[in-house]
Amino acid sequence: MAGMKLFFVLMILFLAAVQGWAQPLKSLGLIGNRVQERFETLVQEDLSLLEKEGFYEAAKFFRNFPRELTYWTQDYVGDYRVKVELFALQYRDIGNLAPPEVAESLENFLESLRLGEEPLPQIIIRERGEKIFYLYVLPLKVKKSCLPCHGSRIRFQEELRELYPEDQARELKVGDLRGALVIEIAPEALNRFASKLSKSP
Ligand code: HEC
Repeated sequence: MAGMKLFFVLMILFLAAVQGWAQPLKSLGLIGNRVQERFETLVQEDLSLLEKEGFYEAAKFFRNFPRELTYWTQDYVGDYRVKVELFALQYRDIGNLAPPEVAESLENFLESLRLGEEPLPQIIIRERGEKIFYLYVLPLKVKKSCLPCHGSRIRFQEELRELYPEDQARELKVGDLRGALVIEIAPEALNRFASKLSKSP
């Protein structure tokens, strides 16, 4: 595990050192920050929906987060070859179980937390047929705002059990790893965004 982590760190340093990579790397960091902010805004909106409309409506809204975030990010990047997803090892919905390469990043994040370190985002290169995509994997830790739905005192136990009988994403504490926010972006889209960025003052 530690070896894997070193590999990723080395890979990122290597990519940063290769000419022409500094700007795309900076862009990826920027996109990641903005998407994470957007995610947190959606969580706040969901909390008020939870108060006003109850758990079913809030869950439905949460379920739509990946689509919302995808549209938002396509708009921000100015290219449609971008997709945002939410994954976990301890999932609420089994459909959000992390695919193997993301699961590996999540294991690395857990290892960092065990060592008392802050987990760092990772970049994965995914091949699909002839094409490659970058996956930017950001760790999502449990914050206070997650507790009403992922903590130990959930008021909507019945609804939760009914909607998600296989739920494992509860009884969590602030600082625990909740999952990953994954931004999949085509190299062309990233480069386009990066060059736009370098031209703006
Ligand atoms: C209003 C309730 C609510 C709040 C608040 C909430 N979640 Fe969730 N979360 C859900 C529901 C419902 C799902 C299942 C969505 C689905 O059906 O795909 C979920 C799923 C997830 C997933 C996808 C993986 C999985 O377990 O299925 C992640 C990652 C996640 N939440 C992270 C967070 C984080 C981080 C916070 C706090 C910053 C948070 N959530 C706050 C209700 C909530």
